[in-house]
Amino acid sequence: MTKAICPGSFDPVTCGHLDIFRRAQALFDDVTVLVTGNPDKNTGLFSVQERVELIREVVDPSVKVDYWSGLLVDYTTAHGADALVKGLRSSLDYEYELPMAQMNRHLSGIDTVFLLTNEKLGYVSSSLCKQVASFGGDVSGLLPDPVVAAIKEKFGE
Ligand code: PNS
Repeated sequence: MTKAICPGSFDPVTCGHLDIFRRAQALFDDVTVLVTGNPDKNTGLFSVQERVELIREVVDPSVKVDYWSGLLVDYTTAHGADALVKGLRSSLDYEYELPMAQMNRHLSGIDTVFLLTNEKLGYVSSSLCKQVASFGGDVSGLLPDPVVAAIKEKFGE
């Protein structure tokens, strides 16, 4: 039984994230999407509870969704995870992810498996979608439909 954790801030979850979760399911028996605190991203548009609920609404029912406010490797060790899974859109993502993957491996021995983002979604990020939506731009097809509805509500549309 292989177990993977897909960690992230997911503020909010995008279609790119969903694609990574689906592909993680093809590689691992058990997949948990973990909403975790990123101390470098102080201001969230969605509360942690809202992020968790939106993810639950759009992922395959066999995927678990959880929240953790502590050190990521404390969660992975406590839950007996075999690997972390993250998406890579570009070399910039690689530069950002590499030290975290190496730190997590140093702290607990856990490996990070990187999946290359779907080539059609390489420009999609939660931050850019929030910015576009805040100006009334159309983010349908980039965010799952319930998330598009939720983001419109946030920006009073
Ligand atoms: O989606 P993000 O914001 O790029 O994900 C980064 C995240 C949340 C996975 C990372 O900040 C994290 O693991 N936070 C939990 C605290 C922690 O363990 N920090 C040390 C990471 S090496």
